Amino acid sequence: DGFQAERLFKQGYSYTYDDIIFLPHYIDFPTDSVQLATKLTRNLTLSIPCVASPMDTVSETSMAVSMAALGAIAFVHSNNTPSHQASIIRSAKSHRIPFVSDPLFKSPSDTIDSIDEFASSNCIFVTDSGTKKSKLLGVVSKADWQALNDKEVTVSDYMVKSPVSFPSNCDFEDVAGFLAAKKLEFVPLVNEKDGELVNVVTADQVERIRGFPKLGMPSVGPDGEFLVGAAIGTRESDKDRLEHLVKAGVNVVLLDSSQGNSIYQTEMIKYIKKTYPELDLIGGNVVTMYQAQNLIQAGADGLRVGMGSGSICTTQEVCAVGRGQATAVYKVSSIAEQSGVPVIADGGISNSGHIVKALTLGASTVMMGSFLAGSSEAPGAYEYQNGRRVKKYRGMGSLEAMTKGSDARYLGDTEKLKIAQGVVGAVVDKGSVLKFIPYAMQAVKQGFQDLGASSLQSAHHLLRSGVIRLEVRTGAAQIEGGVHGLVSYEKKSF
Ligand code: XMP
Repeated sequence: DGFQAERLFKQGYSYTYDDIIFLPHYIDFPTDSVQLATKLTRNLTLSIPCVASPMDTVSETSMAVSMAALGAIAFVHSNNTPSHQASIIRSAKSHRIPFVSDPLFKSPSDTIDSIDEFASSNCIFVTDSGTKKSKLLGVVSKADWQALNDKEVTVSDYMVKSPVSFPSNCDFEDVAGFLAAKKLEFVPLVNEKDGELVNVVTADQVERIRGFPKLGMPSVGPDGEFLVGAAIGTRESDKDRLEHLVKAGVNVVLLDSSQGNSIYQTEMIKYIKKTYPELDLIGGNVVTMYQAQNLIQAGADGLRVGMGSGSICTTQEVCAVGRGQATAVYKVSSIAEQSGVPVIADGGISNSGHIVKALTLGASTVMMGSFLAGSSEAPGAYEYQNGRRVKKYRGMGSLEAMTKGSDARYLGDTEKLKIAQGVVGAVVDKGSVLKFIPYAMQAVKQGFQDLGASSLQSAHHLLRSGVIRLEVRTGAAQIEGGVHGLVSYEKKSF
């Protein structure tokens, strides 16, 4: 009954996730025994198979911290200067609690002129420079400021000096317990080396985090800090960028190119493997077995798969090159598996069913842009469009992003004509990734259970050995598989 994957993908069609459907198999285990632990690269493992795209509307400090806390990882984008990208990595790695606060600073000689200065938090921190980049000297709480008779005095006259703080790599439960025992509203977390403030844990945040569903182990590297990845290009200047990133402690880099099978990339892979033999390196993007083989031979520890499948991509329309994502993931995985190189299915994920399909077809992780761009962790502020709360999401090959410098990915040349391969848009507010990723992972576990696969490795094996069967859905079957026949309904992701 149904088709074996090998037969289905041999017929000359480019299928994407929505084109195919798996036939259910036999269930002999509960949903919660499904294991989602996986490999990102030859040497790095994750508790859940999720990766945030290196895009400037997706992955900066806050996304990197929350993804690592979930047992996933984010790749910090490179549409910035090397030192800025390195500072994002340093900042993400200095956290161990899954959120990033943005406290206000004053110097001891400053004054606080209005209650509005406490608008974003109930406390203001004091350092010599009046910025985050010097030792924490004291703190002023909103209540203390309100109780002052003379508001003209400088903060040094009434700040609480040397407030009790915790090291930035402390355990969440220790801080939470301390706040509760002392009935405090907040506690600063400081970098033990130079006493700089890294984060502030508030009683509200503790409540919020406690309300989120729990997942597996956070992603922590051999350095004892959160795992953080970064994207670089293949230009000569990227060698200098990489040096900054390595100094900042980056755990894995990916070579960000829409067509990765190029002399620029194979040369860069060889250079990186020689210069930083300990650093894991992901090549791509690729969609064919031939492309994959070249990058594996050059030394890639992981492969990123997808060309034109992203929600903001126009590569297939502009360049007439690419592949349906289901076919691409299946074909590349079948060759990569032989060399023990994990595959990242990049782009085109818009629901948990797509994640199940990508992982069963052979990917070890999925990389997501639009799925994460509406979260509170994505860079940028929420706006309102037609009454809906949205966040901006743009392709790195859009003219707007390339104006900021990301044209290297699309082999553009700043001195010549720029051709856009992506668009700028907006996605709906989804709340925190800490909340919706656990729901998505539970849905993925249910999909695996229906397939009779208790882990990713088992799903790969069952598909390759022909136990898991699939079929192509006709247009009508796709309509039937979605919500249909209702006058109206409310769409909620999870
Ligand atoms: P999703 O579907 O998750 O896709 O939003 C994210 C992936 O899309 C790729 N990407 C682009 N591809 N033009 C393209 O052709 C672009 O401007 C562009 N920006 C991002 C990238 O692989 C990302 O992970």
